Amino acid sequence: MFGFSLKNGREARSRPAAATGHDTACACPRASTSPVKMVLFHGGKGGVGTTTLASEAAAILAGSDRNVAAVDLDVCRGDLHYRLDVPVTRDTHTVSDLLPVIDDLDTRILGNALSTCPCGARILPAPTTHAAAAAIEPDHVRKVLVAMAAEFEHLIIDSSVADDRMISPAFDLAELVVLVVTPEIACLGGARRALGQVVSQGGKRPDIALVVNRSLGTSDAVSPAEIESFLQMPATVVLPEDTARCRRLADEGRHVTSERSALGHGIYSLMRRLFTLR
Ligand SMILES: Nc1ncnc2c1ncn2[C@@H]1O[C@H](COP(=O)(O)OP(=O)(O)OP(=O)(O)O)[C@@H](O)[C@H]1O
Ligand SMILES: [Mg+2]
Repeated sequence: MFGFSLKNGREARSRPAAATGHDTACACPRASTSPVKMVLFHGGKGGVGTTTLASEAAAILAGSDRNVAAVDLDVCRGDLHYRLDVPVTRDTHTVSDLLPVIDDLDTRILGNALSTCPCGARILPAPTTHAAAAAIEPDHVRKVLVAMAAEFEHLIIDSSVADDRMISPAFDLAELVVLVVTPEIACLGGARRALGQVVSQGGKRPDIALVVNRSLGTSDAVSPAEIESFLQMPATVVLPEDTARCRRLADEGRHVTSERSALGHGIYSLMRRLFTLR
């Protein structure tokens, strides 16, 4: 139904490293196809690690010499720039700064508007004020996504669960949705609604990669198998909880994959498969 089989996912996925002491592994819905361009990272609920994974994807792609940009569609509260270590000042252009030229977006305008992250990825951050965010309409989002996709090999889209309207164009245009969930009952209903939103889009349906993040292994209240059963799709990867590392590295402006860990390995192996990296 979603472009890959339950059987494949179950065969390739292992228990998280935190539970087994082994590396995480993942099955990928797109392993046999060409590199994916537009990828939407979306959470089953807030705080599940969506922005963390979007930023890791951008950094890994940039580190692999891919021409990559990231856009923050969490227009009211976005913090992708923080994860990618880009300070947003008065001089930084954000999504809302493109509105006056929304029908003229081209290489020059985008080249001037986007900031460059230390990892090499380009970024269009979310606006810094509520008023600026409130001026953005879904049609603006669509135009920004189309224009950015024309300029880059990969476009990483970070999103909020709080604004379905704004995310709708991204669901529509993305070739791949990375649906991030945590092993909590509170996350499952939202994840199922997000899947419903994907299915209800007109046009070509995107592939979906289900990522179970922050797993405590055998202590999870909801097991990966129960999540798979509830959502009727296999998990592409199960990533372990590693709170201290995530917090420390975020505060240091570093990526999780910048040092060796089971979580970093799991994230890297996920991205390698999603984006057909070596
Ligand atoms: N595997 C993990 N183990 C421990 N902490 C994690 C893990 N993944 C992400 N986190 C932490 O969870 C918190 C929320 O992460 P993040 O901001 O990426 O989530 P989000 O889904 O984008 O949240 P929001 O809905 O607020 O946008 C952060 O402090 C992050 O460091
Ligand atoms: Mg976020």
